[in-house]
Amino acid sequence: MLFPLTPSWVVVALSLYVSTSLAYVPLSSINRNSSGRYVPHEYIVEMDSVSGLAGKRAYTGRTVHDEVYHHMRKRGILFDVNNEFDTPEILVGASVKIESADDITRVTEIPGVKAVRPVLSIPRPQIFGAYTVNDPKDPRLPPNPLSTHLMTGVDKLHAQGILGEGIKIGIIDTGIDYKHPALGGAMGPGHKVIGGYDFCGDAYTGKNTAVPDNDPLDTCAGHGTHVAGIIGADPGNPFGISGAAYKASIAAYRIFGCKGSTSDDLIVQSLIRGYNDGMDILTLSLGGVDGWTEGTGSVVASRIAEQGRVVTIAAGNDGAQGSWYTSSPGNGLSVMSIGSIDNVVIPVQNVTVIGVDHMPIPYLQALPFNVTGDLPVYATSNDTVVKNDACDPLPATTPDLSGYVVVVHRGTCPFTQKLANAAKKGAKTFLIYNSDDGEFAGIEVGNYTAALISAQDGKFLVNQFAAGVPIKLNFPAVGGAHNLDDPKGGLVSAFSSYGPTYDMFFKPAFSAPGGNILSTVPVSKGSYAVQSGTSMATPFAAGAAALILQAKGKSKDLSRSLRDLFQTTAVAVSSAKPEGSLFQTVSQQGAGLMQVDRALNTKTFISPGQLMLNDTAHFEAYHTITVKNTGSESVTYSVSHVAAGTAQSMQAGSIFASTGPVELTNASARVTIIPTSLTVSPGSERRVSVYFEPPQGVDESRLPVFSGFIKIESPAETLKVTYLGASGNLKKRVVLDNTDTFFGPGASLPLMLDFLGLQVQDDAQQVNYSMTGINIPSIVYRLAFGTPEVRIDLCDKNVNLKPTIVKRSWLSWLWGDDTTDVNTIGPLQETNYVPRNSAEPEQEKNGYNTFVFNGTFANKTRVENGEYRILLRALKVTGNSKNSSDYESWLSPIFGVNYTGPF
Ligand SMILES: *[C@@H]1O[C@H](CO)[C@@H](O)[C@H](O)[C@H]1NC(C)=O
Ligand SMILES: *[C@@H]1O[C@H](CO)[C@@H](O)[C@H](O)[C@H]1NC(C)=O
Ligand SMILES: *[C@@H]1O[C@H](CO)[C@@H](O)[C@H](O)[C@H]1NC(C)=O
Ligand SMILES: *[C@@H]1O[C@H](CO)[C@@H](O)[C@H](O)[C@H]1NC(C)=O
Ligand SMILES: *[C@@H]1O[C@H](CO)[C@@H](O)[C@H](O)[C@H]1NC(C)=O
Ligand SMILES: *[C@@H]1O[C@H](CO)[C@@H](O)[C@H](O)[C@H]1NC(C)=O
Ligand SMILES: *[C@@H]1O[C@H](CO)[C@@H](O)[C@H](O)[C@H]1NC(C)=O
Ligand SMILES: *[C@@H]1O[C@H](CO)[C@@H](O)[C@H](O)[C@H]1NC(C)=O
Repeated sequence: MLFPLTPSWVVVALSLYVSTSLAYVPLSSINRNSSGRYVPHEYIVEMDSVSGLAGKRAYTGRTVHDEVYHHMRKRGILFDVNNEFDTPEILVGASVKIESADDITRVTEIPGVKAVRPVLSIPRPQIFGAYTVNDPKDPRLPPNPLSTHLMTGVDKLHAQGILGEGIKIGIIDTGIDYKHPALGGAMGPGHKVIGGYDFCGDAYTGKNTAVPDNDPLDTCAGHGTHVAGIIGADPGNPFGISGAAYKASIAAYRIFGCKGSTSDDLIVQSLIRGYNDGMDILTLSLGGVDGWTEGTGSVVASRIAEQGRVVTIAAGNDGAQGSWYTSSPGNGLSVMSIGSIDNVVIPVQNVTVIGVDHMPIPYLQALPFNVTGDLPVYATSNDTVVKNDACDPLPATTPDLSGYVVVVHRGTCPFTQKLANAAKKGAKTFLIYNSDDGEFAGIEVGNYTAALISAQDGKFLVNQFAAGVPIKLNFPAVGGAHNLDDPKGGLVSAFSSYGPTYDMFFKPAFSAPGGNILSTVPVSKGSYAVQSGTSMATPFAAGAAALILQAKGKSKDLSRSLRDLFQTTAVAVSSAKPEGSLFQTVSQQGAGLMQVDRALNTKTFISPGQLMLNDTAHFEAYHTITVKNTGSESVTYSVSHVAAGTAQSMQAGSIFASTGPVELTNASARVTIIPTSLTVSPGSERRVSVYFEPPQGVDESRLPVFSGFIKIESPAETLKVTYLGASGNLKKRVVLDNTDTFFGPGASLPLMLDFLGLQVQDDAQQVNYSMTGINIPSIVYRLAFGTPEVRIDLCDKNVNLKPTIVKRSWLSWLWGDDTTDVNTIGPLQETNYVPRNSAEPEQEKNGYNTFVFNGTFANKTRVENGEYRILLRALKVTGNSKNSSDYESWLSPIFGVNYTGPF
């Protein structure tokens, strides 16, 4: 499932779920539809290019596409072609609708077919926790709008006049409001937005037919416009912001309609379009939980990067879910997956306190509230500890609140519910004060005049009110702009997703500023807003890449080496503010915060930028680093090891991943470096050998992900190579959740539900299903870890098999003792490269999976009436799909298929 990459829902979810102990999810809440990561029946069939085909058989003069279709028809396969791809170095093939899943194997056997991949569904990027500022002409600007440029050295390139001129950047998103004055005001040659394409149309929801046109204007979403401003906002705007590469040319590729999701199909189409349009850089602030490198979008994006284009893609906003959870297509092997660093400042406005001597109170809003006069304070509760403040309707004794600033405590229910309750009493102006552990970041307040203030300031106001002090507040229209130092500024944003991938690929690559970013939104949506997400970090990295391409002169080789260059020149980021804190795990920060001036100016080129040590069962202990001196003098480098914190990626005594922020320990790898000092003459290169031993004395049941840096220092500069490995054997991780942690005592997973949604405990409770309407069985399962393959098969009720997951009460029917050569009747469903589930209670947030058996095999042939079991199997990571002992398995209780309807 792919998710939007503006994360404040994560913050909201945290405030909702963290304080209370996690309640069990009631089985009755399960929505009985099979979980769908994929667009039903849609596949991308990859074909050999003509040259590949010619080797196999005489070429008939038909296109390779026609040739393949011809064979599909000949085999009686029913299909419709949606789109064709014909870019030999990236993808030759077609996205097709294939009626029967069982035909897929037959399609893969057709000569000329290289691969058939299902089309992933990708939910739209949503905007959460944004705060919009309504008046672009307002003369009062928050100072220091360029803090993100200062954090990354972009200011130094701007000072040299390097602004991205001559570089083309394709933005694949919700479109761009190119009419925005800071984005050039128009689209076409000679403008900032030189062109683009709308692949879907406003009405596209990801489930209906896309209606493309030539106009990618972003009117109804806003996400793509925010992304565009981070790259391209022209200076001289009311807020004093400017894009990282505001002289670059931009193309807008729109793949989201006004509502709903999109698909891998449109991602692939837009990537290939951008490639063929000659974009130097393609940037995608989108993606969804995956943890694998194999999705179509990931594969195509990676091939484009290998062809010498820069591809930047968001790492994801699922930091709260912990390790092994980065998004695709950012997981593509050769792309740059971008993590987020919090901005060092938070732009706010101050409200003036009248009646008592007190400092102004900052409220989280970039432009002042349009509220005049001195207003008295009204607190909806005098108790500053209460959590559910104003979650219920206010008492009848409440006065008319229209003349007050209403002060409400954060907690328990959505902000808009609190505001609506106060608004029913006439309230118009609101300040919500933070809880002690709440994050000071954008909150969702709908269209109310409401903003967040600190816990401390809120308690002060409430205590004054409760003491009967006649305190008033004034929202100055002028002079209230202020920048708070973000106490977590410069650290990795809490929402930024943790890698690595399940098979130990290095994700994210590095990080860029993405927390609290002021940029453009469509004029119809207020023109400017502050938003947070790896969605914001990703275009920053794209803009930075444009500066380097311009300054050094663009070439395929430079583009291919850019990830190494950004990684080796990035600065490692701490896990916390106090001096001496452990460095944050590389699995969340990647190689650290990018430093664009260092990437431009370094005379030392080091490759590779990242070392992947794999797990200890497949440990890659030896690595070679090449140090190249392009300067005009000999340089002596000293090489040393600096460890980062080791992430306890799994919970203690549990099969589940740790939630974020993931606990760190100081266990560290032992590293032998030869030589530790080397002199490299001008224009030449030398090698350094590095030998790793995993940390000693760690608890492998926590699957510790250890990481760090090989520091390469000269008197003039410090560079590094970043490494990452895991202590433990990935193949030993439990994949299928076999606990009752999620659904509560008695509801051990996996489980079968009857037609009322009640759990079928065992064979004694056999249910015979009529297989019509909802009178069908469903299987509910969760994945504690990713799996390369989930298979669901129908078996005879007497199948001779001992599954790996066994309930005591079922032992009576277990007489088999291994899973080799399982005699199944036929496949019901097979899914590849499935991510683990989240700790969220909802299926839409990847909390659990369901499979609904509607009475047909995967090939849609109806199953005969009879008594059966359903066999669920999941392959272990690094397991061999041919070896049945590498699967975990579960057998359902016996059930009857008692279909009586017409055939
Ligand atoms: C805003 O409030 C903060 C905190 O009280 C104060 O330090 C700062 O000087 C104020 N700035 C302005 C412009 O009022
Ligand atoms: C502020 O509010 C007043 C009165 O409601 C309105 O006339 C004015 O246009 C508003 N100003 C802005 C900048 O929205
Ligand atoms: C705020 O939004 C609600 C729901 O979208 C709408 O009913 C209401 O009229 C809006 N209020 C204002 C003042 O725009
Ligand atoms: C809160 O304090 C104010 C001022 O002392 C008082 O008028 C009000 O009744 C108090 N509210 C409650 C619920 O006690
Ligand atoms: C780690 O080892 C497994 C098993 O050999 C392999 O499939 C995987 O690709 C390796 N990962 C990396 C990053 O090399
Ligand atoms: C569909 O699959 C079932 C189970 O594998 C098999 O028995 C049946 O022959 C298949 N039907 C067709 C039309 O291929
Ligand atoms: C069962 O589900 C499959 C896949 O969604 C669908 O194609 C088929 O028509 C359904 N069959 C019945 C009998 O509902
Ligand atoms: C359902 O089918 C089973 C086995 O085919 C049969 O024994 C049973 O009587 C049937 N039950 C109903 C309610 O039709």
